Amino acid sequence: MIQAIFGDADEYDLLHGDIVEDIPFFVDLAERVGGPVLELGCGTGRITLPIARKGVEVVGMDISLPMVRKAVERAGEEDLPVMCFVGDMRSFALKKRFPLIIVPFNAFSHLYTLEDVEGFFRSSLSALGDGGKLVIDVFNPDADILRGSPVRRLVGSYIDKEGREVVVYGTNWYDAFTQVNHLKWYFTRGDEQWIREFTMRVFFPQEIVNYARLMGFRVEAVYGDYDGGEITASSPRMVLILSKDN
Ligand SMILES: C[S@@+](CC[C@H](N)C(=O)[O-])C[C@H]1O[C@@H](n2cnc3c(N)ncnc32)[C@H](O)[C@@H]1O
Repeated sequence: MIQAIFGDADEYDLLHGDIVEDIPFFVDLAERVGGPVLELGCGTGRITLPIARKGVEVVGMDISLPMVRKAVERAGEEDLPVMCFVGDMRSFALKKRFPLIIVPFNAFSHLYTLEDVEGFFRSSLSALGDGGKLVIDVFNPDADILRGSPVRRLVGSYIDKEGREVVVYGTNWYDAFTQVNHLKWYFTRGDEQWIREFTMRVFFPQEIVNYARLMGFRVEAVYGDYDGGEITASSPRMVLILSKDN
């Protein structure tokens, strides 16, 4: 199922376009490993395009057609040789082999079941060349968020194309059995309001490392930020560097 939050690519970009802190990490990684790079859950190309601008070959895959269409349009505007296509990271098979696969900014949280996770790791393993790296960046769960909040918290705001301010508040409830966080975002523009509901699977640090090992990856490192900082209980992110050993 394509989550409604990824159905409007312009709205996604307006709300997330100012997130830039992870870009140097992925660009640097791509330059060091070299292309071709495969990005799973590439969205509108927030990470894909900066990699291409450095002259590294990059291929993006995403389940949402509006997101892929926008990534392709943006690449076209700059004449960047980026290939993006619609595909499902839970099950894919490509002819090409990649030395680097990246899964930035919580795309991994859209793997909900054991079958999803297995399919993702199996497909990724087969798309990697020998010694290739799989790099996943996902939330490190925050106990506060997992308690849920029926009270609306501020998510962010942006100015739309007509120059009007849109403010976004959110509520969430976390199902501790399925480990799925249910989010509801309320967009308000003057008197208008619209709601986007979506879900994100929560992965715990020990769990995700064990999945990767069981699926045949070597865990090279797990960082708590984009500067290679050690992960702790309060780190906001889990950045996993996994490799395919033969
Ligand atoms: C939070 S966005 C990240 C987009 C982009 N990587 C970025 O950093 O801005 C997550 C993306 O994952 C995509 N996605 C969700 N489930 C997917 C799946 N099963 N296969 C491929 N892409 C998926 C969504 O459509 C969305 O574009």
